[in-house]
Amino acid sequence: MSKVWSNRFDSSLNPFIESFNASINFDKELILEDIDCSIAHAKMLSKTKVLSSNESLKIIKGLKTIRDDFLKGQFSPQAPSEDIHYCIEEKLIDLIGETGKKLHTGRSRNDQVGTDIRLWLRKKIDKIDKLLQELQKSLFLRAESNLYTLIPGYTHMQRAQPLSLAHHLLAYLEMFQRDRERLKDVRSRVNISPLGAAALAGTKIKIDRYFTAEELGFDKIYRNSIDAVSDRDFCVEFLSTSSLIMSHLSRISEEIIMWVTDEFSFAKLTDKCSTGSSLMPQKKNPDVPELIRGKTGRVYGNLQALLTIIKGVPLAYNKDFQEDKEPIFDTVDTVSDCLQAMNILVNEGIEFNIDILMNTVENDFSNATDVADYLVNKNVPFRMAYQIVGKIVKYCLNKKVLFKDLSLEEFQTFNPAFQDDIYENLKPNSVVNSRDSLGGTGFEQVKNELINWKDKLFM
Ligand code: ARG
Repeated sequence: MSKVWSNRFDSSLNPFIESFNASINFDKELILEDIDCSIAHAKMLSKTKVLSSNESLKIIKGLKTIRDDFLKGQFSPQAPSEDIHYCIEEKLIDLIGETGKKLHTGRSRNDQVGTDIRLWLRKKIDKIDKLLQELQKSLFLRAESNLYTLIPGYTHMQRAQPLSLAHHLLAYLEMFQRDRERLKDVRSRVNISPLGAAALAGTKIKIDRYFTAEELGFDKIYRNSIDAVSDRDFCVEFLSTSSLIMSHLSRISEEIIMWVTDEFSFAKLTDKCSTGSSLMPQKKNPDVPELIRGKTGRVYGNLQALLTIIKGVPLAYNKDFQEDKEPIFDTVDTVSDCLQAMNILVNEGIEFNIDILMNTVENDFSNATDVADYLVNKNVPFRMAYQIVGKIVKYCLNKKVLFKDLSLEEFQTFNPAFQDDIYENLKPNSVVNSRDSLGGTGFEQVKNELINWKDKLFM
């Protein structure tokens, strides 16, 4: 097939280089957006009288036919077309003849590809936001039914203080909410039209950039044509936001993997989301959270790849930018799949071992701070109370007992301020409930948060 630019060249392209140069194998993903972009452009050219209205209508009809054929599976973009933009243009000329050759008036593939990728990404951002919201809803429902389930809270992976399981799960809702806010923010910079910047300098053809921007649902237009075709910041921002989404998914995955070990036994995997071992018949493996944790690496890699791709690129468009697409496509697929998988895991893949959880928080020293706070309430200065409780812990460890096993007399040997009410203070429920500071794990605090989230997610 002769190239659009072949008149300027004496010999044809080396076949290997031809395929090396091509992006059709992956940018065919942009077919619907490329057609939308061309329809808007053709409409605009008729409005500015660069094309007659007949010519414009003919082009638009041709483009719509290509779209229908594609959707019916009767047309698939492929080599030898170099990329999706040439592919559609070639197909259009095939279909409607000479008039098709007028479509590319007043634009370049540089502003065209920038428009396509923005339109594509905008749709995907909206889908990812929905998936995030679905996951938040599932986590919310697990939280709502586990307000009074207690789970050990850790710092440094050492037992710290018991928590309401709901409070623990709501922490993830907060993270995913920030992800959604970031996505919204990225979307505002994705939704700017570069169309009409042409190759880099604008065009002397009469165009109307506001018209195409509005047709395509963009909020704004790029003010500088060079920036319009050179900007890939929004792609980096999307990959960086996606990396944080993956980091949140990876952290909850890691917790689930630990929870379902024999050592923790805080939860078990249902048969719907676990797999067996080919050798060891007793095993139930947490493949789903492991895969999510593993795929986080791909997305971080994609971010790193794009940052590196753009770093040395002088203004304006350079072919390096063709390399932006695969990391973005791969990230959208990976993040969407992982969100969906995590949603299923939270919904039907995991069961908490409530008895074990409750028993665990009964039988540790995670109420030590409460013993100190108890003394503080009896007017013992905190630093002193802290030292006293340290001694009691040591005494208990030697005796292989817990606080609750000590007699009041034993308590009083450490400080006379101890009274009978200490035992009530030691109970995990009281420990949790007493953390009533704003944003704490106290049941009243968590109840309020559940109400807030319910409004936010379901109203
Ligand atoms: N396939 C190219 C890309 O993805 C389209 C733009 C090509 N522009 C150019 N001046 N060669 O970036």
